[in-house]
Amino acid sequence: MKTVAFHTLGCKVNQVETEEMKEDFVNRGFNIVGFNSKADIYIINTCTVTHVSDRKSKAMIRRAIRRNPLAVVAAVGCMAQTDSRQLAEIKGISLIVGNSDKENIVDIIENLTMEEKNRTTIVSNPIRAEDKPKTVTYTCKHQRTRAFIKIQDGCQNFCSYCIIPYTRGPVRSKLPASVVDEIRQLLVIGYREVVLTGIHTGLYGSDLDGWDLTRLLRFIMEEVKGDYRIRLSSIEPLEMNEQLIKIIAEEPRLCHHFHIPLQSGSNKILKAMYRRYTREFYRELINHIAISVPDAAFTTDIMVGFPGENEEDFSDTYTLIAGLPLMDLHVFKYSPRPGTKASAMPLQVEEITKRDRSEKLLELARNKYCTFIRRFLNTDMEVLVERELYNDQYIGLSDNYINVEFSSNNDLRGNFATIKISSMDSGVLKGELLPI
Ligand code: 5AD
Ligand code: SF4
Repeated sequence: MKTVAFHTLGCKVNQVETEEMKEDFVNRGFNIVGFNSKADIYIINTCTVTHVSDRKSKAMIRRAIRRNPLAVVAAVGCMAQTDSRQLAEIKGISLIVGNSDKENIVDIIENLTMEEKNRTTIVSNPIRAEDKPKTVTYTCKHQRTRAFIKIQDGCQNFCSYCIIPYTRGPVRSKLPASVVDEIRQLLVIGYREVVLTGIHTGLYGSDLDGWDLTRLLRFIMEEVKGDYRIRLSSIEPLEMNEQLIKIIAEEPRLCHHFHIPLQSGSNKILKAMYRRYTREFYRELINHIAISVPDAAFTTDIMVGFPGENEEDFSDTYTLIAGLPLMDLHVFKYSPRPGTKASAMPLQVEEITKRDRSEKLLELARNKYCTFIRRFLNTDMEVLVERELYNDQYIGLSDNYINVEFSSNNDLRGNFATIKISSMDSGVLKGELLPI
């Protein structure tokens, strides 16, 4: 039996797509092995959101070629879509398949002729609005406790720094019936949490007649009964609306977790980024949701070192974040991406300044995390048990994204459990398991 090994870089959507490729390979009789094994085929699902992602993607491709020079080494995904030329320079790479054709990877590999295996084949086409995400059939549990499904692909915001609209094409939504079908399958396999992911999830349905994200959530809640929870991935500030906040506030199966990218707290920088909101709008939005959903966890993306960001702009970002009830920050150092507007802007910021600003925000993030979780001392929290840390000691994740440690004589992995929180230690809540 032929063996295939995978390595995934980048966002959750890429992770989901790797799982989909794995399903396709297994259904066609391939055996999946670890990336460190000697395999017949290596698939590297690349990311290109920053120059560091490019570097890591290329390093993994080279590693696969070194491990088995006779293998078919295929780069797929975002870097393959936008920069196949750079990838083709890697000696020994067999195949480069963009996001446009990633779904057909098994066919493409099976149809390679001997001659093609010995040179580099590039399959990358423009991504068309009519290419909707297909329905996936799940046969086995890949991740441990939480499943991810892609409900949407593509972005047409064209923020001035971002290469994603070029790698992912226009907004395309998975049909609502397919989303429901996939959630049902995942619950049958044994998952209790499904994370709805996308490149621009808040625009779900804008390409389908009469659909939007709130209607999709309502449809899932009506159609899929049972003991499970749904988590939403990133939603842009301008796509949060009253109906969406209301359904999340009222429906216990929807997680109280909002990931709302801010990027910058300086109005000057937001404008140069082509983000069409202000720091005041963001502040009001978060404070407003926090009143409607009091235990909500808010997480965000912040970028430091965008061209023209001076000390005053950074200070605007820092003070805005410090004053908001955010739980955690994902901090990105701006990286100029070829073909984007920002890469040609003057006043590029030095790396050392980016590093310094990033460290300051990460320190702030650690403090904010502790402040947030401290609020839940002496409360009862429901968690989905994720894994055993060591003998009879387990860790679970709450709907508002807090890790909770507790001990149990039974293996509760994959189940819900209620924990009475009694202490906090090194940024982790600890407590006692309550009887069911
Ligand atoms: N440089 C650094 N970070 C970036 N992101 C997007 N483009 C870039 C870039 N050129 C970050 C943004 C986005 C996250 C997914 O990636 O913060 O929210
Ligand atoms: Fe990139 Fe902006 Fe689209 Fe997010 S919304 S993927 S940051 S262009």
